[in-house]
Amino acid sequence: MNFNMENIKKDFPLLEERKITYLDNGATTQKPIQVIKAIEEFYKKYNANPHRGAYSLSVEATQLYEQIREKIAKFINAKHSEEIIFSKNATESLNLIAYSYGMNNLKKDDEIVISIMEHHSNLVPWQKVAKITESKLKYMYINDNYEIPDEEIENKITDKTKIVSITHVSNVLGTINNVKKIIKYAHKKGAKVIIDASQSIPHVKIDVQDLDADFLIFSGHKMLAPLGVGVLYGKKEILNNMTPFLMGGDMIEYVHEQETTYAPLPNKFEAGTQNVEAVIGLGAAIDYIENIGYNKIQQIEKEVIKYARQQLAKLDYLTLYMPSNEENHCGVISFNINGVHPHDVASILDTLGICIRSGNHCAQPLMRYLGIDSTCRASFYFYNTKEDVDNLVKGLDKAYNMFKKYITKG
Ligand SMILES: Cc1ncc(COP(=O)(O)O)c(C=O)c1O
Repeated sequence: MNFNMENIKKDFPLLEERKITYLDNGATTQKPIQVIKAIEEFYKKYNANPHRGAYSLSVEATQLYEQIREKIAKFINAKHSEEIIFSKNATESLNLIAYSYGMNNLKKDDEIVISIMEHHSNLVPWQKVAKITESKLKYMYINDNYEIPDEEIENKITDKTKIVSITHVSNVLGTINNVKKIIKYAHKKGAKVIIDASQSIPHVKIDVQDLDADFLIFSGHKMLAPLGVGVLYGKKEILNNMTPFLMGGDMIEYVHEQETTYAPLPNKFEAGTQNVEAVIGLGAAIDYIENIGYNKIQQIEKEVIKYARQQLAKLDYLTLYMPSNEENHCGVISFNINGVHPHDVASILDTLGICIRSGNHCAQPLMRYLGIDSTCRASFYFYNTKEDVDNLVKGLDKAYNMFKKYITKG
């Protein structure tokens, strides 16, 4: 298969149709035609509620759904397919762990360690767990290079730590955290570790056994899949000892008037009718990614991001928020035009067909730590090109020239 950039963009109907410069992949990626067709085919040929019917159509729908669980297990190198739980999104996966594991395994004076760069979905649930269990929520802070220094890991993770929950890649800074090292250190102290792979799995190969992660979560929609499906990986022995998060149909074994026994993994954690079309789309997204291969994806992205870093660094009116070492950086670049509100910048770029995100990126504690309210964020995927970067730079020049007279007036 020939993966020149021209061909890759052609696989994405929205990019073809709208002719935009789409640089908001950290929020959600565009979907290739292969994913869209897989959903269409499901509804045309296989639609039935999995696990519910004895008739052959429902059995086929069940088989399709379960095949994708197996595909995901292989994709992230999980030992067992029942270690893969489907959820609505990364947020629900994290809430499941917080409620089902955190609430039941923490006690007064235990400690939960997260980092200051966490998305609210990996922060607010832990605040609640800490309040209810009277445990303590501690933060690992970043240095001037937007990275978590080793001393911070060693100072914050102690014998009292029971849970470490950390993002693999920051959705604001693009910093790649050394999660393997953090997991190893946390395990020495007896803590369980949750990895938020939402911003890493679109770009880098994940191997849960090599990482030795206790839990790892992500959303499908940031890696070409439809909106509305997330994944939770957990080690089988840990998941087996957890109580269900949501109760209802399909997660039970026997229900009596006053008591219920629960289904085994993975059904125990999948109550109610699932978003089957999104699961089917996630299967097609994984096929698409594997067809290109992570090596190729990284090769393309490294070149474009390197170029973006160089071009943006030339704009003396910008402040950039990213690690200086490009080996330690992926996916997103946050920046501000000094003195101009990010929403104004994003609105000017929008008039030129350039889509970037502006705001606090669901990371208010990080913003406060950096002493700012918000940033502009350009986030990249393998279909982005150097031309997209050039468009961004032209747009920023235009925004700066429009606003500079107000900046100097103060
Ligand atoms: C690092 C990180 N974690 C979690 C999430 C939450 O993802 P979702 O909104 O799909 O639940 C996001 C979304 O931007 C994210 O960037």
